[in-house]
Amino acid sequence: MKLFIDTADVDEIRQAAAMGVLDGVTTNPSLIAKTGRPFEEVVKEICSMIPGPVSAECMSTDAEDLIEEGRRIAEIADNIAVKVPLTVDGLRATKALSADGVKVNVTLCFHPVQALLAAKAGATYVSPFVGRLDDITTDGMGLIADIVTIFDNYDFPTEVLVASIRHPIHVLEAARLGAHVSTIPYKVIAQLANHPLTDIGIERFLADWRKSQQSA
Ligand code: G3P
Repeated sequence: MKLFIDTADVDEIRQAAAMGVLDGVTTNPSLIAKTGRPFEEVVKEICSMIPGPVSAECMSTDAEDLIEEGRRIAEIADNIAVKVPLTVDGLRATKALSADGVKVNVTLCFHPVQALLAAKAGATYVSPFVGRLDDITTDGMGLIADIVTIFDNYDFPTEVLVASIRHPIHVLEAARLGAHVSTIPYKVIAQLANHPLTDIGIERFLADWRKSQQSA
């Protein structure tokens, strides 16, 4: 499973990349707004930091505007994936942009049949939001299981990009289900690496080593 970081904060991206675990980046308008920086400047910087795909989201809602904006965003760098919403207009834009050879990430997916349409329209990625479904007492990971089954049934090349991840169990379940990508906030990436028994083990080894009075 590929691991993307879900952030527009370049320091967080640098730290995750240094861990050697980063395959790509996803941003959204809320994450870009949090940086306080202009959209194009921050997206260009992120694209120069990692070779993998960087998702940058269109703000238009109408198909023609989405296509025009998507083409403009795709010009920013070779590793851009243009994000469009999972609406009728978004699907029209997905068809047009993917025909141009642009990588399209269809976002805000909350139902398996929406994902089926995104795959039919030529999406490179579809982004189901698991955390936001859990928030309304609906099984977010059940959505991932359904989409993975449907895509496998028909050999769709569209990748399932699990988004709105809130904790390590979401990542574990995504990997168990065979999702192609998880996009994860930096805080959760750090949580994945941590285990209390690892910390206790290090302390014990260090204490025993000190007792032996040897030097490394
Ligand atoms: O990038 C989209 C998604 O990951 C948003 O997550 O936590 O705002 O639902 P969240």
